[in-house]
Amino acid sequence: MSAGAACVLGVSAVLALQAATAAPARKPTLAEEKPTGQEAIERGGYLVRLGGCNDCHTPGYFLGKPDHSRYLGGSDVGFEVPGLGTFVGPNLTPDRETGLGDWTRAEIVAAIQTGVRPDGRVLAPVMPWHAFAELTKSDMGAVVDFLASLTPVTRKVSGPFGPEEKADVFVMRIVPPDAGETPAEGRAEVE
Ligand code: HEC
Repeated sequence: MSAGAACVLGVSAVLALQAATAAPARKPTLAEEKPTGQEAIERGGYLVRLGGCNDCHTPGYFLGKPDHSRYLGGSDVGFEVPGLGTFVGPNLTPDRETGLGDWTRAEIVAAIQTGVRPDGRVLAPVMPWHAFAELTKSDMGAVVDFLASLTPVTRKVSGPFGPEEKADVFVMRIVPPDAGETPAEGRAEVE
């Protein structure tokens, strides 16, 4: 090998090394997070109970029998939003395949506070992300710490289903009143 070629190789090795160190390290995903702050985990659990996450994200809850062994493992009842489709509260445990295990902390926070999933889809407003946008940074962090501390549950929820699609789960549906009986007319009769 000529001295020139060795020099070129040397330079490219240095450049490659720089590129490797310059690339931003991918932050740990939920499954890799090791939350240690017991206080934050407890605060997160408190907020999760208060925020109703359990109701919409635990199987059996809307059927009157929440399955505590699959806590936050995804609902089995969908919400039908007229014109938008039917949405089932997904698995929030750190399972990599079916839950949030492969999501980073930033991705989870973005979904909960801005409604934007890592794939860019905006969550249906049934998920109250507009309200959760007001959580303080430390409360939001505590919620993620709590989710990271959960036992992973392997369970993929159905959907989302388009407005014309038939959902294969129980559905909560907004049923319009009988023809001619709009809420406004109902009020007029009472007056
Ligand atoms: C009233 C029901 C309801 C409540 C309360 C609720 N969620 Fe949701 N959530 C949903 C539904 C339904 C979806 C799916 C919406 C969609 O697919 O467009 C969802 C989606 C999500 C997602 C995105 C997950 C994914 O795989 O796309 C996260 C994260 C999430 N919720 C976290 C929470 C947390 C944390 C709380 C409590 C602080 C909470 N949710 C409270 C109904 C709810």
